[in-house]
Amino acid sequence: MADMTVAYSPSHGLGEEQSIWFKLTPLLNQENPMQVLMALSDKYGGVIPINLKSQRIVLLSEPAHAERVLVTNADNYTKYFDGLRPIFGKSMITIDGALWQKIRTPQQAAFHPNMFEEYFPYLMSAIDSKMARWAEIAETGETVEMVEETWTLAAEMVCKALFDREMPFNPHFVFSQVKTYTDVMNHKSIRLKNQRGELIEMTGEETAKAMEVWHSIPDSVIGANVIDHREKTLLKMLQAAEADPDFPEFDHRQVIDEMKQYLWAGTESTALTLAWSLYLLSQHPEAMERIRAEAHAVCGDAGPEWNQVQQLSYTRMVIQETMRLFPPVWALIRIAAGDDDIQGHKVKAGDKVVILTYIAHHSPKYWDDPEKFDPERFAPERAKKRVKYSYLLFSAGKRACIGGALSQIENTLALVQLLRRFTPEYVGPVPAKIHATVTFCPKGGLPFRIRALR
Ligand code: HEM
Repeated sequence: MADMTVAYSPSHGLGEEQSIWFKLTPLLNQENPMQVLMALSDKYGGVIPINLKSQRIVLLSEPAHAERVLVTNADNYTKYFDGLRPIFGKSMITIDGALWQKIRTPQQAAFHPNMFEEYFPYLMSAIDSKMARWAEIAETGETVEMVEETWTLAAEMVCKALFDREMPFNPHFVFSQVKTYTDVMNHKSIRLKNQRGELIEMTGEETAKAMEVWHSIPDSVIGANVIDHREKTLLKMLQAAEADPDFPEFDHRQVIDEMKQYLWAGTESTALTLAWSLYLLSQHPEAMERIRAEAHAVCGDAGPEWNQVQQLSYTRMVIQETMRLFPPVWALIRIAAGDDDIQGHKVKAGDKVVILTYIAHHSPKYWDDPEKFDPERFAPERAKKRVKYSYLLFSAGKRACIGGALSQIENTLALVQLLRRFTPEYVGPVPAKIHATVTFCPKGGLPFRIRALR
């Protein structure tokens, strides 16, 4: 097996020939890319090898494949980061081996469930800002793009709860600039920006400017208004690691890059989940009513209080079902360090391995009536019967998401609070079209109108 203590896997630029996303573009550019992948996976028994001149890509879709790559033989696989390195810098999400473990350890405590109660008022405060904005939108009757709305909310939650700072930037502006850069469909020597269906050329200069803005964000967050001078925050943990003389690797650049990682990985997927769940709820008004009824039964007209959050179980099931149907991270990519045998399929050192979580999430082998929106399938009795690794929303093994539990609390609170005051009405085409990039996005966005209930 190859040495797994290497800090960084080779850097790949977006648009470069070797980019896996570039290679998959013909598949992903289809009208319904997921149906194409599911049909191929069915045809080839869950393993789709793609042999190209310079490399081999193996698409895997069975739970047992995921178990091998992510858990039982995880040390044989390094992370693959394509051109996302400018977004994430050298943050832990991009690192492998001993250094990854060293960088993750001081941050782990910020995601222990006993911290969530401390975050609770700050999450609620971010939701209050969103409700104030929606009250205005409801007045004007304008149409809003839901992913922009939920992304702004998720970013404010991270700034307030994890960094103890007011959000000093406009996330919509910053994220749309950077997203243009990360959009895999833009992986061409000439980058195109897809703004509301319009294709506009993005020059190298504009790309550089977007990256400059992005790189300046963490320092502007550090310098922003401190909310409560809390002692135990993620930012404080990062700064303590920086100040530790026995931890020279954790320099100021590491703090900046870790923050970038949280402002991106800690917000985009959460935002997509909330936006997709509002889309599904607008198609299933009976489920929206059940969330309202649950909120009323648990919290009455006030709250929720922190000790009531666990009781919002139907709301949580809606979020879990949303992530099954629309997994924000629908493909997990690794590079094989050494040869492997995955359920009789040979993998060679250097192969890129893609675990298509979307396919297991939609397979009739693992779910009854898989295309049906049925939050009750996550009720404890039914969830017990689930095949392990058939539901991989936060990945598995040691590289699993650090913020999965937090994101579910964020979105449970957001759904309950927003739906008690508003009815978000989806006004786009049904079914919404998919734009499968590094994350599972709606093609052309999710347009909504917001109606106030009281
Ligand atoms: C619905 C919300 C979320 C989803 C679906 C999600 C999904 C994932 C997945 C699938 C991975 C592993 C990627 C891979 O192995 O290739 C991951 C890693 C990670 N996520 Fe999340 N995530 C979510 C929310 C969050 C939140 C709220 C935070 C923090 C505030 C966060 C921070 C991270 C970090 C730092 C990693 C890298 C962990 C490591 O490499 O050690 N995520 N996430």
